[in-house]
Amino acid sequence: MGDPIESGRGVAGAAVVGLILMAGAAAAAPTVAAPAPRPPEAIYAKVCGYCHGAHVGPIIRGRGLPPDVVTQIVRLGPNAMPAFRPTEITDAELASLARWVSTSKADPKEKGE
Ligand code: HEC
Repeated sequence: MGDPIESGRGVAGAAVVGLILMAGAAAAAPTVAAPAPRPPEAIYAKVCGYCHGAHVGPIIRGRGLPPDVVTQIVRLGPNAMPAFRPTEITDAELASLARWVSTSKADPKEKGE
């Protein structure tokens, strides 16, 4: 007859092997591809332009604002401006948006607050 302690170990061992196999399967599962970054013009038009240039926030185009200032302001959201998290605007999107805002020309159709 098998030693009950010995066979108990066998079951536990099988469970451990099972867990390792499951972990391996989970790691091998295809990951959902991150959505392609949106172009800065599109983000500006949809998100920032809701306020900036629409009588709510100050004009930010055509002022040569440094990209790192734009980045910080978007993440911090000073005063009446909302902060945007990386789940809303990714770091990569924000980097190109900040460069775009910094170098974009003023649009005469935009109105400041
Ligand atoms: C809900 C309205 C709103 C939205 C949306 C918004 N902002 Fe703002 N933003 C403001 C307001 C209001 C201020 C002025 C804050 C203050 O008083 O300091 C501001 C300030 C700024 C400034 C500083 C301007 C200056 O003259 O100091 C920058 C840069 C800026 N926003 C960039 C952005 C960008 C880029 C986006 C889009 C990702 C964005 N904002 C979205 C309302 C908004």
